Amino acid sequence: MLRLRLFPTLLALAMYSAVATAEHEYDPDNARDINEVCAGCHEEFGQGGKQGKYPRIAGLPKNYLKKQLLLFQDRERPNMPMVEHVEKRQLPLDDIEDISTYLSRIKLKTRLPPVDENSPGFNAYARLREAKHLMQVPRAEGDIEKGGKIYHRECRSCHGEKGLGKKDIPPLTGQYTQYLWRQVDRFLKGERIHDEDEPDDELLKDFSREEIRDIFAWLSVQDD
Ligand code: HEC
Ligand code: HEC
Repeated sequence: MLRLRLFPTLLALAMYSAVATAEHEYDPDNARDINEVCAGCHEEFGQGGKQGKYPRIAGLPKNYLKKQLLLFQDRERPNMPMVEHVEKRQLPLDDIEDISTYLSRIKLKTRLPPVDENSPGFNAYARLREAKHLMQVPRAEGDIEKGGKIYHRECRSCHGEKGLGKKDIPPLTGQYTQYLWRQVDRFLKGERIHDEDEPDDELLKDFSREEIRDIFAWLSVQDD
C-alpha cells in the first residue's frame, strides 16, 4: 500500500528532474559575464562598431543567435576573429543559451525622445545610459525607391515588412550596411547558407550589385 502511494511521487520527481536538465534555466549573471568578452568587439550593448566590421548583435532573434554561435563553434560559418571565443571549452551549450537570451532581449533605440533638461524630473545619468543604447545605420548610397520595390518583391516574405526580421530570421534593418555586403559575398561564395530549407537556392545570385545596393539603401532609412 505504502509503495503504491509513493510510486506516483517518485515518478513525478524523476520526470521533473528530466525536464529540469533538458530545459536550461536562464542565468542573467552568467550572461553578463560572457557579454564582457563579446563587448570587446561588439560593444557594451551589442550595438557593434567600426562601421560594421563588428555587426550589431543586440536584439537579434534568440534562435538565430544560438544557431550562428553553433555554426562558428563547428567552423561551418567562417569567423577568424571569434574562433578562440566560441570554442566548446570557452562557450559550452549552457553559455550559448544564456548569452543568446541576454542579447536577444536588448532593445536599441534609433533616437532619443526629446526631454526638457531643466525639468525637475530630469535625470542626467539615466539620460546618458539611454544615449548609449542608441544605434542608427547611416544612410547608404543607392536608389531608395527602386530598392524598396525589389525588397518587397524578393525579401519581405522572410525578412518582414520593414526588414525587422521574423521569428528566427534576422533583421536587415538596423544592421550595418558594410556587414550586410560581406554576408552577401559569403552567401555567393558558398561560405554561408542563406536558406537552410533550400540550401541550393542561391537567393541573391540573380541580382546585380546595383540592385543589392538599392535594397541596402532602402533598408538604411527604415530605422530613421
Ligand atoms: C575579437 C572580436 C570578437 C569578439 C570578442 C566576439 N565577436 Fe562576434 N563577431 C566578430 C566579427 C568580426 C563578426 C563578423 C563576422 C563576419 O563578417 O561574417 C562577428 C559576428 C558575430 C555574430 C553574427 C551576427 C549575425 O548577424 O549573423 C554573432 C551572433 C556574434 N558575433 C556573437 C558574439 C558573441 C555572443 C560573442 C561573445 C561570446 C562575440 N561575438 C565575441 C568579432 C568578435
Ligand atoms: C526564403 C526566405 C528568405 C528570403 C526570401 C530572403 N532571405 Fe535573407 N535570410 C534568410 C535566413 C533564414 C537568413 C539567416 C541564415 C542563417 O541562419 O545563417 C537570412 C540572412 C540574410 C542576411 C545575413 C544577415 C546577418 O545578420 O548575417 C542577409 C544580408 C540577407 N539575408 C539578405 C537578403 C536579401 C537582400 C533578400 C532579398 C533579395 C533576402 N535576404 C531574402 C531567409 C531569406
